[in-house]
Amino acid sequence: MNGTGGQPVSPPEAVRWAADGGVDILDQTLLPETERRLVLWSADEMIEAIRALRVRGAPAIGIAAAMALAVEAVQHVDLVAGAFAAAVSDAANRLSAARPTAVNLAWAIHRAMNAIDAGSTNVQAIEALHREASRILDEDRAMCRRIGELGVSLLPDGARVLTQCNAGALATGGIGTALAPVYVAAERGHAVEVWAPETRPLLQGSRITAWELERAGVPVTVLTDSAVAALLGQSKIDLVIVGADRIAANGDVANKVGTYALALLARAHDVPFYVAAPTSTLDAGTPTGAGIPIEMRDPDEIRRGFGRLTAPAAVRVFSPAFDVTPAALITAIITERGILRPPFGDAVGLQVRDSERERERP
Ligand code: MRU
Repeated sequence: MNGTGGQPVSPPEAVRWAADGGVDILDQTLLPETERRLVLWSADEMIEAIRALRVRGAPAIGIAAAMALAVEAVQHVDLVAGAFAAAVSDAANRLSAARPTAVNLAWAIHRAMNAIDAGSTNVQAIEALHREASRILDEDRAMCRRIGELGVSLLPDGARVLTQCNAGALATGGIGTALAPVYVAAERGHAVEVWAPETRPLLQGSRITAWELERAGVPVTVLTDSAVAALLGQSKIDLVIVGADRIAANGDVANKVGTYALALLARAHDVPFYVAAPTSTLDAGTPTGAGIPIEMRDPDEIRRGFGRLTAPAAVRVFSPAFDVTPAALITAIITERGILRPPFGDAVGLQVRDSERERERP
């Protein structure tokens, strides 16, 4: 029996409604030392939280931004209709642009804005924004569960899984994407273990993935990013599963920097390389990975990494937050709608169309 004892996992929620109507997030910058929740009341507070990675992970920032838009709209309820619409649309634009790479952010805000019927009163618009944000959260929870149920078929008994960054519960509204098959395997009493590279510079692997897996009772080992080749060279890994911030129409995948290196190393060692993501991460409008905007991080995250100088104070730094893994290196993409295998062809676009059609059905 695995660490969860075959029981359903109940990981902490990255984002939820606060009882008094704000947006309640777990401040992930403080993990694993401190577990502190914050309640946010405006678009500006949420933009700060997204940029600082207090809330992070592609699905979670989309959900959190949609919820913040609803909360922000409440602040403007007494404005005349035109001014109210302008204030909400300004907040929507600013929230969408808080981070550039994860398509879920703009996708969720677009969905929320589209939920407002033309001619709505301010109160009706606010209700529509709240309803749609709750729907996005609920759907994401269900998508994570489905990704887990589909993805678990790819895990041999005793699976040794290598991941990157955190694509677990704390990056989503549910049990994660890359970690969802791991949680489902553990719930079913199968042996499974995870290897988590630190994920420099902000250590989402060692601070967050290791924390949430330990909490769920799933065995986890942390390694430095530079130890990944040695690990694969020692045949200690059965498969790699990572999440995604955006998947282009041809199957190229943007994810946390270091993912591309993992994919190259997995190919060199004949280890399958899987990407797990909900359809909200598919971007049929971007033909290839070359069109995905890559966020560059503040150089001081590298120069002053651990509260002290970790490089010369003014040295030039190259710090992309994400990289792009070419589709050719990907064994399969697991979404809530199925497992896509290469050549991906029109599969990404078809899944986007199917999920939109399903949502439009009365
Ligand atoms: O910079 P972060 O921590 O937001 O980066 C997160 C990742 O790269 C995740 O792998 C990705 O968003 C998928 S989360 C299900």
